Amino acid sequence: MMRIPFIAGNWKMNTTAAEAEKLVHDMLDRLDRIEEVEKVLCPPFISLVTIRELLKGSSIKLGAQNMWFETKGAYTGEISPLMLRESCEFVILGHSERRRYFGETDEIINKKIKAALENKLKPILCVGERLEENEAGRTEEVIGRQLNQDLNQVKPTHNIVIAYEPIWAIGTGKAASGEQAAATIKFIRDILAELWNKGIAQDLRILYGGSVTSHNIAEFISQPEIDGALVGGSSLEAEEFLSIVNQTAEIKGD
Ligand code: 13P
Repeated sequence: MMRIPFIAGNWKMNTTAAEAEKLVHDMLDRLDRIEEVEKVLCPPFISLVTIRELLKGSSIKLGAQNMWFETKGAYTGEISPLMLRESCEFVILGHSERRRYFGETDEIINKKIKAALENKLKPILCVGERLEENEAGRTEEVIGRQLNQDLNQVKPTHNIVIAYEPIWAIGTGKAASGEQAAATIKFIRDILAELWNKGIAQDLRILYGGSVTSHNIAEFISQPEIDGALVGGSSLEAEEFLSIVNQTAEIKGD
């Protein structure tokens, strides 16, 4: 199976509803026409329904940035997989900002992954090490543990995307090098082969995330191991995001 390149924009807690609509308007037609890449926008919850309508009939897909693992009930302020399923195909889970600021453990992330899959949502599972772990040469140990726990008792599935996001590269302007990212992504693929099987590990898309811009995307995407990117800050500017997706289409299409 050929791995279709994948670029997702994680808007995080940015854009009012009006700004979100404008951002989609500014790139909709041009983004829609790029055929060789799977394109996903992950706006804030409050804009999902409006953006779903704007994207109707286009090739651009929608993702949420988080969810709770129960389908309904007394969980004030939370959003369930059933609610997301009406609008989204994807959901980002295990993002380091959720782990760090909102105390999400691998056990919670594991429950969320299972709930997403049971409810026909495709998780974009984020893993990544902290700076001190990287400097201590513990990257593989940390990522191996995250994957084993986050995917504990999850049956092999094609309906998942993995994103390698080293925490020290997120929002810092200090991206990993293409080679560094490719080596860790190769390691992630090996873990998936052990955990599930070689076939699925070869089929699954594994992305890099962390300070990706139109200036460095080529370095990542030209690595055969890297299937795309999870883009934060640079997904908030239409021209920048379009350039990232266009370069991905060109490089992976060669
Ligand atoms: P930046 O691209 O802003 O570094 O964010 C990366 C990220 O966390 C995407 O999920």
